[in-house]
Amino acid sequence: MDWGMQHRLANIIPRETGRTVMLAVDHGYFLGPTGGLEEPQKTVTPLLPHADSLMLTRGVLRQCIDPRSRVSIVLRVSGGTSILTELSNEEITVSIEDAIRLNVSAMALSIFVGSENERRTLANLAKLVDMGEQYGIPVLAVTAVGKDMQRDARYLSLCCRIAAELGARIVKTYFCEGFEEVVGGCPVPIVIAGGKKIEERAALQLAHDAVSGGALGVDMGRNIFQSDNPVGMIRAVRQVVHEHKTPDEAFRFLTGLRGAAA
Ligand code: R5P
Repeated sequence: MDWGMQHRLANIIPRETGRTVMLAVDHGYFLGPTGGLEEPQKTVTPLLPHADSLMLTRGVLRQCIDPRSRVSIVLRVSGGTSILTELSNEEITVSIEDAIRLNVSAMALSIFVGSENERRTLANLAKLVDMGEQYGIPVLAVTAVGKDMQRDARYLSLCCRIAAELGARIVKTYFCEGFEEVVGGCPVPIVIAGGKKIEERAALQLAHDAVSGGALGVDMGRNIFQSDNPVGMIRAVRQVVHEHKTPDEAFRFLTGLRGAAA
């Protein structure tokens, strides 16, 4: 692997632990002003020191993120659809030149295996990998987005393996029963999405189960920025992912912060 590719991956995965806490705030690219992200700058700025990387679109990056920030950028480069239409009908929405200009550490794109646009999104991934590899920029493939997707181990294994076979360097998917099977069948590291906001103790359990099951870490959004204490929550997630704390220990830390603030 070339130095540039290795360096960018190392920007996302701190070598001290070999795990990662990615903060996903790219929801607006098809959901519009998602709850908690109405004013991205306000929400994201206090979280930046606690995230190993930030996953977002170029519009929000340019308008809302201080370029002096040291956070690594995972740029969302697929889109072109909204929640009102067929989500899988995506295109590559950013040129490789603009990704280079933005000094990104990775580019992220969704694939929709089993959807009517399966072929198009897989071809998008292959094209993006070709461009990324030319310049040493890793591609992160996002799988199984969409409310109708059955997120079981059989389906997620299929998606993750295809993403890896097409050249993704990291795959983002969902945690599921039998997650080890998904990880075992995927030759590149997996990070998990948090999904819809759930109770904080449960979200910490999810992060714990994912890393115990072999995930590289989390690429979590709503369960962090929709928490009533987003900074406390991302710090608690870091304790689980990087410090091997139990969900109970991390949850006690979070509730302790609330108690101290009261
Ligand atoms: C999905 O296409 C996007 O990458 C989402 O922003 C991401 O998966 C959401 O993260 P979460 O489910 O943790 O809010």
